[in-house]
Amino acid sequence: MADLLLASNRGPASFIEDDAGRLVLRRGGGGLVSALAAAGSPQALWVCAALSQYDRRALRTGVLDLPGVRMLDIDEGVFHRAYDRVANSLLWFVSHLLCSTATTPTFDAASWREWHGYEAYCGAFADALAAEAGPGAQVLVQDYHLSLVPAMLRERRPDLRIAHFSHTPWAPPEYFAVLPDQVARALLTGLLGADALGFHSARWSQAFGRCCVEVLGADWDGSAVSYAGRSTRVLVHALGVDGDALHERAAQADVVARLDSVREIVGDRRMLLRIDRTELSKNIVRGLLAYGELLRTRPQWREQVVHLAFAYPSRHDLPQYREYTAAVQRTAREVNDEFATPGWLPVVLQVRDDYARSLAAYQLADVLVVNPVRDGMNLVAKEGPVLSREGLVLVLSREAGAADELGADALVINPYDVSQTADAMHAALLMPAAERRARCDRLAEAATALPPAAWLAEQLAVLAAVRG
Ligand code: G6P
Repeated sequence: MADLLLASNRGPASFIEDDAGRLVLRRGGGGLVSALAAAGSPQALWVCAALSQYDRRALRTGVLDLPGVRMLDIDEGVFHRAYDRVANSLLWFVSHLLCSTATTPTFDAASWREWHGYEAYCGAFADALAAEAGPGAQVLVQDYHLSLVPAMLRERRPDLRIAHFSHTPWAPPEYFAVLPDQVARALLTGLLGADALGFHSARWSQAFGRCCVEVLGADWDGSAVSYAGRSTRVLVHALGVDGDALHERAAQADVVARLDSVREIVGDRRMLLRIDRTELSKNIVRGLLAYGELLRTRPQWREQVVHLAFAYPSRHDLPQYREYTAAVQRTAREVNDEFATPGWLPVVLQVRDDYARSLAAYQLADVLVVNPVRDGMNLVAKEGPVLSREGLVLVLSREAGAADELGADALVINPYDVSQTADAMHAALLMPAAERRARCDRLAEAATALPPAAWLAEQLAVLAAVRG
């Protein structure tokens, strides 16, 4: 029986198959897993889902041996309906304001089947947590995949202290209203089953509170929601990065080796860097368009700059993601077709996931572009300044949670405004070295204000206080 449990769809690692058909473990990606893995408490039990046929095979054949991890073998159809259809195609789009409301979302009879899959999937997590938790244990549930779990778990185990953390933004009530009323109510009451809810930014926690008022008629005082005789704290814990751990990781041989390969690509030119998972929210296409506009309107940068764009694969089971990846590749090609010269490739787009290469590139970049249309936090914006050697300039979207803390020393842009983004790239490239250094130092300080271990400890302290 565990005293501390974490629950998330994606666990700390999952299996892939190597060329010889053997199952090998690979570290999980994304902001949530990075945070929890770094915060890692050796006593915690981490409950997660089997994500692929390889995970399922590992579970069924007993290959899985991850201490402290309980991977759930949820029926494949239920998993698909919950993860691909509801979590990623509906909830992600709503929280990031990505619906094309002329046509999506459309809720019809098939959608209800998907919704029931989501309920069953959350139920499987609630069952597992209820079975594994010791008396009065603390349970930290993560993200939009598991929104119904807090209330389901409270029903099964009223003795537990339950928190939920949203790593994504939250939609304002006018936008949240695209959801069917029954779904909107279920999501909110599901979350309100927790004792405490956490968000990366006050913008998201305030939006959540306002949704509770509009949809449920609940009371909201800015830091707690009262509804149906219970009160739930709604707080901001702005996740940062662990500077020492990052430096330690960056000193390892694989990162050091990649410094040379990055130098080889960039040569003695200036480097504009972006690093994203290829998600629709990351706004990679507009970022590349802005770079094209920079080269078009400020010819002085032609042959003087290389834009390294690492766009790592994400959620390729969804057609929108495959189309978006193709659009990113097409846009990079168009910029190169327009401007490349025999000795210069303006955009170097790399799509193979390579964390060590990312850590090498941060160290050498002159400008880091982080321009999401909307983002819960964005840890790239925080890692870059910490590892930068000479002091990079951060071009940052005002719609990223990270803008709350980094806005003062970044060049802040409206992510939809391609021309403004191009202007910011220009200003960043021109910024005097001393100013870059000073701003970057302050960015690094802000980025490390609440490293993962402290972020987790803050939430546990709230839970401990909440019920005496
Ligand atoms: C990003 C978001 C998290 C989310 C994760 C899921 O990291 O910040 O909020 O949980 O994506 O990604 P996945 O690859 O598991 O679908």
